[in-house]
Amino acid sequence: MKLYFSNSFEDLKKAFSGLSAMPGKVCIVADTNTGPLYADSIIGVLGEMFENVDNFFFPAGEENKNLRSIEALYGFLLDKHYDRHDCLLALGGGVVGDMTGFAAATYLRGISYVQVPTTLLAQVDSSIGGKTGVDFMGYKNMVGAFHMPEFVYTNPLTLKTLPEEEFISGMGEVLKSALLADSEFFEWILDNMDGITEQENDVIFEMVRRTASIKEKIVDRDPTEKGERALLNLGHTIGHAIEKYKDFTMPHGMCVGLGCISAAAISMKRGYIGPEELYEIRDVCVMFGLPMFADGIDDQEILSITKSDKKMIGGHIRFILLKEIGKAVIADDVTDEEILYGIRFINGDEIRFED
Ligand SMILES: NC(=O)c1ccc[n+]([C@@H]2O[C@H](COP(=O)([O-])OP(=O)(O)OC[C@H]3O[C@@H](n4cnc5c(N)ncnc54)[C@H](O)[C@@H]3O)[C@@H](O)[C@H]2O)c1
Ligand SMILES: [Zn+2]
Repeated sequence: MKLYFSNSFEDLKKAFSGLSAMPGKVCIVADTNTGPLYADSIIGVLGEMFENVDNFFFPAGEENKNLRSIEALYGFLLDKHYDRHDCLLALGGGVVGDMTGFAAATYLRGISYVQVPTTLLAQVDSSIGGKTGVDFMGYKNMVGAFHMPEFVYTNPLTLKTLPEEEFISGMGEVLKSALLADSEFFEWILDNMDGITEQENDVIFEMVRRTASIKEKIVDRDPTEKGERALLNLGHTIGHAIEKYKDFTMPHGMCVGLGCISAAAISMKRGYIGPEELYEIRDVCVMFGLPMFADGIDDQEILSITKSDKKMIGGHIRFILLKEIGKAVIADDVTDEEILYGIRFINGDEIRFED
């Protein structure tokens, strides 16, 4: 999987030229927010290369990440006579990327697609690695497939139009990646705090590129999550439980930030990291606007949701802990007491109660 980074869409031509087989037609798939913002610029570039560049927009929002939207896209592709030589281009956040990838994995038993991610979360995480899918009967990503994009083309300037809350949420995944794999990058983030929050072009470019390459390297070594890829779930066990408990009203990356703080607290309890590192991790999250505490949660409830997570291995929860900043490890032996300790560390009500 090839990753391109550019502060314009111009190099998309180069990216397509690098493919072993040139597609016939390209269909830009976007949502009703990203399509109107960027589809025309992409058509402007690709129109010089392809006779046919179509676009298909579906209503924005996770609530539309379902099989009905996929069916509508199949119908559009069929109408326009898309065949195995054609290609889809996912222009948008994780919702667009997951759905376009799933449609590409299944239409005519699989056609090619490329990712052009436009949220911070999609640029550093969801566009990389080939996990695709839709939500089904209230379960997230219940139906899906592994299907690698031909390439991922990231234009970090698209983040200029992203709502602030989405940017902050994406920072949860950026910090997660630095914490699990790259202490030097974690230091770089601290040194470039102002440039990141003020969204200076060069700083954001570098941050997105470095975070994306952390995931790329891990996925390259373990594409189907037999081992190492699980490390990318740092912060996601307790994070997902909070997300579910809060009925998906709290943005994913914010829950991941809280999950990282929890995992760091458990790691400290085990003596892997020191208290100063734990507090540093928490401070950094807070400096980027991520929450320090979750309010209105119930420790036991969060624990039981954590245990119903699909990442259970033989009755044990697969947990990701920090041996040190920049080095995560898989732990299958985390006890309920340890998990409760981690949850209590981020339970705002509990802290206030103890006061
Ligand atoms: N496949 C994977 O490996 C993977 C990993 C993590 C998350 N995901 C999935 O990703 C999804 C979340 O992705 P997301 O956070 O990107 O959400 P999203 O795609 O819903 O985008 C968030 C919002 O921002 C808007 N938007 C996107 N880009 C914009 C831009 N440049 N300017 C203005 N508005 C813009 C969107 O229209 C949407 O309203 C979830 O469905 C999750 O399951 C998948
Ligand atoms: Zn995530």
